[in-house]
Amino acid sequence: MDRNVRDAVNVATRIAAGDDRTRYDGVAISLHWLTVFLVLANFALAETWAGFAKPTRHLMVATHMSFGILLAITVVARIVWRLMPGHQVSSANSGAVALASKAVHYLLYGLLALEAVLGFVLRWSGGEAMSFFGLAIPSPMATVSRATNHTIGDLHNWNGWAIIILAAGHAGAALYNHVVVKNDVLRRMLPQGARRSA
Ligand code: HEM
Ligand code: HEM
Repeated sequence: MDRNVRDAVNVATRIAAGDDRTRYDGVAISLHWLTVFLVLANFALAETWAGFAKPTRHLMVATHMSFGILLAITVVARIVWRLMPGHQVSSANSGAVALASKAVHYLLYGLLALEAVLGFVLRWSGGEAMSFFGLAIPSPMATVSRATNHTIGDLHNWNGWAIIILAAGHAGAALYNHVVVKNDVLRRMLPQGARRSA
């Protein structure tokens, strides 16, 4: 079959099946909400573990590392999924608003990837193994001075705050679209069942 005809048939089949690329698919929705959970859990753990005594604090740090590795895998999976043909969603807005929301999404992905890199480097450059649910992943890199390791910790901390602040603005924009503008922006990122009642 001619390529143009085949493309047209594919588009027609998708639209007939109710998929007009205006909604996120189940995989994209699951990965988004898993990302939200892991970011918030890691932020809460990191900002509170200093107030706990040793056995609990160690467990919190280990959970942070395991969730951090899961978060890195989730972000890579989401980026690979959205690069695959047929998984792109057109913007719900247009013009400058569409551009701004796209920029925020790309920035969030960039900061999340950077956070994972800083997390691995922070631990490994301090000469310690990463921990993934009890499995130790030894450091493949040389150790650095305490001062440098401290600076990497600061960068990881500040970047974590940047993610939280940007994500809060992003969530606020999604809620504004839903409550004030009353469009489909939030609904298309909700699971099927929740969409009908939202
Ligand atoms: C948005 C998500 C995250 C936030 C808000 C966050 C926040 C933090 C903060 C505030 C610290 C303490 C930094 C310091 O000691 O100065 C920390 C430590 C750490 N984070 Fe994260 N982090 C996040 C994601 C990750 C990810 C994705 C990884 C790894 C893949 C990771 C791995 C680590 C490690 C290894 C430590 C050091 C633990 C230790 O040895 O004490 N974090 N994180
Ligand atoms: C840590 C928190 C969050 C992070 C890191 C995050 C990240 C992202 C990213 C990267 C995208 C782009 C998806 C893509 O096209 O690949 C996205 C989309 C979206 N997020 Fe979040 N998000 C967070 C929290 C939230 C919250 C709390 C809400 C709802 C109140 C929300 C609602 C949405 C919606 C509706 C979209 C689709 C927007 C559109 O179609 O233009 N997000 N999010």
